[in-house]
Amino acid sequence: MDAISICGGNTLCGEVKIQGSKNGTLPLLAASVLIKGKTVLENCPRITDVDHMIKLLEYAGCKITRNNRSVEIDASHISQTDFPKEHTGVMRSSIMLLGAMLGRAGEIRTFYPGGCVIGERPIDMHMEALSQMGVEFTDSDSEVLAHAKDLHGGKVKLSFPSVGATENVILTAVLAEGVTQIEGCAREPEIVELCTFLNKAGAKIEGAGESRIRITGVKKLQEICYRIMPDRIVAGTYLLAGVMTKGIVVLNKAPVDQMQELFRVLQLMGADIVIAGDWVCINGEHACKSIPALKTSVYPGFPTDLQSAFMAAFSIAEGCTIIEENIFENRFKIVSELSKMGADVRICDNRAMICGVDSLKGCTVEAMELRGGAALVLAGLAASGTTLVENKHFIDRGYEDIGRDLRALGANIRYV
Ligand code: UD1
Repeated sequence: MDAISICGGNTLCGEVKIQGSKNGTLPLLAASVLIKGKTVLENCPRITDVDHMIKLLEYAGCKITRNNRSVEIDASHISQTDFPKEHTGVMRSSIMLLGAMLGRAGEIRTFYPGGCVIGERPIDMHMEALSQMGVEFTDSDSEVLAHAKDLHGGKVKLSFPSVGATENVILTAVLAEGVTQIEGCAREPEIVELCTFLNKAGAKIEGAGESRIRITGVKKLQEICYRIMPDRIVAGTYLLAGVMTKGIVVLNKAPVDQMQELFRVLQLMGADIVIAGDWVCINGEHACKSIPALKTSVYPGFPTDLQSAFMAAFSIAEGCTIIEENIFENRFKIVSELSKMGADVRICDNRAMICGVDSLKGCTVEAMELRGGAALVLAGLAASGTTLVENKHFIDRGYEDIGRDLRALGANIRYV
């Protein structure tokens, strides 16, 4: 079986080191094809999404050497710009290769990443933006066929600050002739990470982290060794594990600057937080209280990737909370599973009202996607009895070893 068994009720206490960022790593792996030589990425998380992206790079002709969390990509030779469905369909982030391959080879044939349970996730904004830079797309229902004879800078205005579209435009623009200006960019830390990486390799990007980015194309990028930032979503998950079990959890190597909104919400929920450098200590003894409303939004607002985990926490809080999901149209998939555990959650459109119950009851629940799966594990930690979270493979997409980390904090958790 592919499941996680949690015997709930333990108060978590201890320290955990935060892994490298998934959403930081994937665009950097794609970006490595822009460098005709070696890229070394350190602190690469050992997760299956990274494994998939590495397979795609190997397919393109890159030579990969992995040593624990260090990954060396030698992209001196690219032999393939045509990616088959079995390699691209499994992972939404394969779309990052669109901009990277256009920048490197001027063409790519891949497949639409398609919808997933959290929403449709189309790529219309990516395509519209790249069209402003000389990229031509050939119409097809399932394939993305793109080529650019004369890739050039352009003025791109995004109608919504899409993280992926912003990343794809940046990847396409760094080696394109002339200047590209992107208006309405995403401001997420992962955009800053990508631009910092590319600038260290010799790109000229200004404005990362702001809503207007300017990229002046350069002729080539140099080899680079780069250390990936820690994962803010994993860090948030483990803080909640402390809060939901009324424990004391210390994070080592947390991306503190990126977590300010999270700290604000956790404090409203009654948690005590002490920060020292990149250490965070959370004391959940006086948590978990409901708050009137929580709205997901683009950075620096509250991250949609932690919405399900907070829903799990509010399901055992004192009082009621309304969560408003503003990024993905179908991100309340865990409600049916939390309800099986005794949670009181009602949904109306993009809002969910969660009224805390005294305790959740362990039972068998099904993870349907990565973040919802992690949220069910958190629910299991706080529930009475045993919770079996099926489909562990979804959680493995983004967490190196959630069982190892939570066990180190005192959880009774094992893989089945
Ligand atoms: C990235 C993150 C994901 C996070 C999300 C929002 C990675 C690998 N994934 O996903 O974990 O939850 O940002 O912070 O970094 N949209 C369109 N058309 C487009 C592009 C997007 O309609 O062309 C819509 C999406 O369907 C979604 C919203 O815009 O409703 C936000 O999507 P986007 O910011 O692009 O998220 P991703 O880059 O897919």
